[in-house]
Amino acid sequence: MHSISHYQQVFLDYLEGQSVEKEPKNLYDPIQYILKLGGKRMRPVLTLMTAEIFNADCKNALAAAMAVEVFHNFSLVHDDIMDDAPLRRGNQTVHEKWDVNTAILSGDAMLILAYQYFEQYEPVVFRDLAKLFSKTALEVCEGQQWDVDFESRTDVTIPQYLKMIEYKTAVLVAAAMKMGAIIANATQENANLIYEFGLNLGLAFQLQDDYLDAFGNPETFGKQVGGDIIENKKTYLYLKAVAAASTEDKSQLLQFFANSPEDSTDKVAQVKSIFVRSTADKITQDAIEEYTLKAFEILEKIDINSDKKSALRIFGENLMKRKV
Ligand code: IPE
Ligand code: IPE
Ligand code: MG
Ligand code: MG
Ligand code: MG
Repeated sequence: MHSISHYQQVFLDYLEGQSVEKEPKNLYDPIQYILKLGGKRMRPVLTLMTAEIFNADCKNALAAAMAVEVFHNFSLVHDDIMDDAPLRRGNQTVHEKWDVNTAILSGDAMLILAYQYFEQYEPVVFRDLAKLFSKTALEVCEGQQWDVDFESRTDVTIPQYLKMIEYKTAVLVAAAMKMGAIIANATQENANLIYEFGLNLGLAFQLQDDYLDAFGNPETFGKQVGGDIIENKKTYLYLKAVAAASTEDKSQLLQFFANSPEDSTDKVAQVKSIFVRSTADKITQDAIEEYTLKAFEILEKIDINSDKKSALRIFGENLMKRKV
C-alpha cells in the first residue's frame, strides 16, 4: 500500500487531465471552479485505496473515483443553496459567485457528468457501479430532504438524526469504497464488509462535520462557522444539548431555534456556550470515536492482510484528527 498522499496525488493528476474549456461558459465554468477549489478528496482516495486493497491497479478505479468526486461536488453546490451558505473551501460558494439558477443547472450537469464516467467500464462492472450509484444518489437526496425538514421540526430524535446523516453523508463514503471493491472483483462478502466499514466511518465523519461547524477555527475551517446554528439544523450537538442542558439553558436553546434563521453572532455565541455547558461537545466527540471504533471492528472481519488493514486504520485515525 502507498501513503494517503500518494493516492491524493494520483487522483489530482487525473483530475487535472480532465478539465476542458467548454461553452456555454456559465454552465461549465462553475463546474471547473468547484472541482478545482480543493477539498480533502477523501471519497476518491477511498475508491483508489479500496481497489488496491483488493488487488487491482488503482488506475483502473480512477474513472469511478472521479464519478464519486464529481457527484460529491454536485451535492455541495446544491447543498450550499439549500443551506444558504456563503463560503466553501475558503471561497465564495457557486450560487454567491454566480447566482442560484446557474448553481442549479451546473449542479444538474455535474450529476450527469458523474454518471458518464462509468461508461468507461465493461458492461458487467458498469452495471454494478451504476446500480450502486443510483441507489446511493437517491438516498443522498432523501437524507438532504430530512435534513431540511428537521430545521422546522422540534420532535427530531437521535435515531431519526442518525438515519438522516447515514443517508445524506455516510452512504456515499460507503459506496465510494464498495466501488473500489467492485472494480477489483472482490468477493461479495468483502465488498459488503467494506461498505459497512465506510458507512460507520461516514457516520463518524458527519458527526465531526457537525462538531466543526460550531467549534472549527474560522481562519482555517473554510466554511461559515456557526452556519448550522444560524439555520436551526438539528445536529447531534443540538439534540444532545436539548437532552442534557439545565432547564434554563434548554428553554433558551429551544427559543433560539424556534425563530426563523438569522445570521446573528449573539445566537451563535450563546448556543455554543450551551453546547459546552451541557457537555454536548464532549458527548459528540465520544460518538465520533465510537463510530470510528465500530468501523475498525468491521475491518477486522475483512479477509485482507494486516498491512492493508493498517492503511485503512490510519485513514480513520487521521479523519478523527481533522480540523477541516
Ligand atoms: C462536506 O464534505 C460535506 C459533508 C458530507 C459533510 P467534505 O468535508 O468531504 O468536503 P471537501 O470535499 O473536503 O471540501
Ligand atoms: C452535507 O451536509 C451533505 C451533502 C452535501 C449531501 P452539510 O450541509 O453538513 O455539509 P457542509 O457542512 O455544508 O459541508
Ligand atoms: Mg451545508
Ligand atoms: Mg446541508
Ligand atoms: Mg456541515
